[in-house]
Amino acid sequence: MDYTKSFSQVTGVMKSSLIRELVASTKNIPGLISFAGGFPSPKTFPTQLLGDIFREVVENEGADVLQYGASEGDTLLKKQLQNWEGYELSPDEMVITVGATNALYYYGRTLVNPGDVILCEAPSFLGSLVAFDALQADVQSVPIDCGGIVLSEFESRVKQLRAQGKKIKFLYVIPDFHNPGGISYSLERRRDLLTFCIANEIPIVEDNPYSRLRFSGEPLPTLYRLDSTEFHSGTVTEVVSFSKILGPGMRIAYAKGNADLINKMVSWQQKVNITPDCVAQRVVARFLERGLMDPHIASICDFYRPYLRKMLDVLESRMPQNVVWTKPEGGIFLWLTLPESINADELFVQASQNKVSFIPGSKFYPTGQECFNTLRLNFTFSTLEQIETGIQRLAELLK
Ligand SMILES: Cc1ncc(COP(=O)(O)O)c(C=O)c1O
Repeated sequence: MDYTKSFSQVTGVMKSSLIRELVASTKNIPGLISFAGGFPSPKTFPTQLLGDIFREVVENEGADVLQYGASEGDTLLKKQLQNWEGYELSPDEMVITVGATNALYYYGRTLVNPGDVILCEAPSFLGSLVAFDALQADVQSVPIDCGGIVLSEFESRVKQLRAQGKKIKFLYVIPDFHNPGGISYSLERRRDLLTFCIANEIPIVEDNPYSRLRFSGEPLPTLYRLDSTEFHSGTVTEVVSFSKILGPGMRIAYAKGNADLINKMVSWQQKVNITPDCVAQRVVARFLERGLMDPHIASICDFYRPYLRKMLDVLESRMPQNVVWTKPEGGIFLWLTLPESINADELFVQASQNKVSFIPGSKFYPTGQECFNTLRLNFTFSTLEQIETGIQRLAELLK
């Protein structure tokens, strides 16, 4: 049977993740040092603690957690999440999902008709861009600088799109330790963005897998928290993932937002998944209940801090002067801007031959809106020695 003739329209045009293909293309190069992947270090996974809690949960609460569960997520986990975050939230303002990817899918599915505009940052997280593409949305990107989305550009784009009669359904942003941009929004930019979006009725979905991975400096309030404490508008839906904290294989995340919107996201979950993994949800609930989350996060930050330091130090001492990079205080990525004459897609091929790899920046933009003189480096998967050697190789190539 040739199924390719039967694919739905959306499936027929759906893109695969170019990043996976790029990473796979260098997999068999012996001695290659890769800064390409976006994986957390497996050394940060709390395997012993989770192993014990999984066993206890299945043995003691199996009758409950091996049964079908609620589509909105485990009540016990929601309660623990609220305690942990210190929010006054009603349970119907929160849904537990199978990773952030699922939450973003439900959010988009709830709001977007084919042809509607989704605004995002340039660059943005490829996984979300391909999911939005699959909604047949018109995804338009607005540049970021070191303090967040460039508001003047955002405001004029909104005006322009509305003048063309386009429906802007939402803005998708990653304000903390941006993937791939390595930047965080300043407090002022957060407030100004919220003020503009509230005045112009543009919902915001805030993707937040990294804000708790802060190795230095002071944490800033998320857009969701700012809105809840200062603006009270219900404009922001925040998606928090445990992928970089407990391990992406846990597939646990949650979204907080307006109850009507969350209710529809739950309806989508009911259709797509029935429920998130009930065992994993209860394990996370018990992990939080025992007060293990914050010390665990502190230990991840202690673990990653030297890797970021090392990468920043080697970049500083080795890179030619016409290369600039972000200096994040957390997260797992750095973003390099090369002279405009250098195409990072071409550099990727040469770099692979020189046994070092990264993701060319062009992969993080909606189709047709690419920028070619940038690249993303991950600093959490290689050893300190590999960081030293790999950045040296890249610097030599650029020189
Ligand atoms: C910005 C961003 N959003 C979402 C995800 C996916 O998260 P999850 O594993 O919870 O689906 C990632 C993973 O790398 C990410 O960097």
